Amino acid sequence: MEVGIIGSGIIGLASALALAEAGYSVKVVARELPGDESQNWASPWAGAGILPYPEGKGHDLQINTFKYYWALAHRDPTSGVQVVDVTEYFDDREDDSAIWYKRLVPKYHVLDAKELPEKAKLGVRYQSMTVNPAVFLPWIQSILIDKGVRFYRAEVKSIDEARSTLKTQIIVNASGLGALDIAADKAVVPVRGQTLHVKSNSHEIVMFQGSHYTYQIPRMYSGGVVIGGVSQEGSRDQKADAVTRADIIQRFKLLTRGRSDYSDPQNHIQDIVAFRPARKGGYRLEREGSVIHAYGFNTLGYTYSYGVGLRVKELVDLILGRSKQPTSRL
Ligand SMILES: Cc1cc2nc3c(=O)[nH]c(=O)nc-3n(C[C@H](O)[C@H](O)[C@H](O)COP(=O)(O)OP(=O)(O)OC[C@H]3O[C@@H](n4cnc5c(N)ncnc54)[C@H](O)[C@@H]3O)c2cc1C
Ligand SMILES: *[C@@H]1O[C@H](CO)[C@@H](O)[C@H](O)[C@H]1NC(C)=O
Repeated sequence: MEVGIIGSGIIGLASALALAEAGYSVKVVARELPGDESQNWASPWAGAGILPYPEGKGHDLQINTFKYYWALAHRDPTSGVQVVDVTEYFDDREDDSAIWYKRLVPKYHVLDAKELPEKAKLGVRYQSMTVNPAVFLPWIQSILIDKGVRFYRAEVKSIDEARSTLKTQIIVNASGLGALDIAADKAVVPVRGQTLHVKSNSHEIVMFQGSHYTYQIPRMYSGGVVIGGVSQEGSRDQKADAVTRADIIQRFKLLTRGRSDYSDPQNHIQDIVAFRPARKGGYRLEREGSVIHAYGFNTLGYTYSYGVGLRVKELVDLILGRSKQPTSRL
């Protein structure tokens, strides 16, 4: 049975993988494909950390994703996925009761108050993964091509145009921000991010959550880390802004207190500006007739990705009346 997907960002690719693994014949149409360095899609520009979020809905999606990347990091490091230590600080909570993923992640523990940087009220440490998009996106595309998935480069203006281009009835809409000007869903909104890729030997994710949103994410094989912490809703400014860069560096120094095992933000490789595909009210992951909506993952597209793929596959099963029958226990 054939399934068409609009979009080859991390959400479209993860959906293609789960569908192909289940035996579906998959075709993908996308304006940008792995390897493209345009700012019109988000996936090449993410950190990307697999970082479950305390208040994020869809725990099952995040759990399935965590397990997928954990296994992949051990099975095939050429995928650009690696296991790293994560230190998370919070200034918006004093205890870890909302950190539901403490039961999921290895080596989880709460830090002593004396280990916390200024203003932090809680610190936790555990293991998770980073994905280097520049390595992972082409890697996963080549795995998909081996599994028979076909990729077509085109911009489509509607679901019907995707149907006639791909000649499939079932369409997965994984178009990220899509084409905002023709968007039927007015809740879709870009959230601008600006980061710096800097040279570093550090292999640790450091994340300050709350009012002081600042982070470092290692990029495997790149000789560096990504430093960031900017979320500007609605902005479409594609240029890196010097004031923002200086502010990120300043906040990063406060966060890491100049410790030499962290990066020196002056060792600058590249500025990155990109737009997270957000949606007011949260992501959309549901079936409507023979269309499956899978967009609006904002700042956590990688963290939700494989779980979303598995859910998309279940929704396709439902459309086809193939959902698993409960096994009889008689
Ligand atoms: C600076 C930054 C840092 C980030 N860090 C992290 C992180 O650490 N962890 C994490 O989990 N997430 C992170 N994210 C978020 C993550 O990058 C996104 O959530 C994710 O990439 C979204 O994937 P997507 O597939 O939905 O969209 P996209 O990657 O934007 O892909 C959309 C796809 O649809 C195609 N498309 C769109 N419209 C059309 C059309 N009309 N016709 C045909 N094709 C179309 C595009 O060409 C593209 O192929 C970060 C984002 C930014 C910007
Ligand atoms: C497809 O997704 C985009 C977001 O990428 C959304 O704006 C658009 O409304 C969706 N199309 C349909 C027909 O639902």
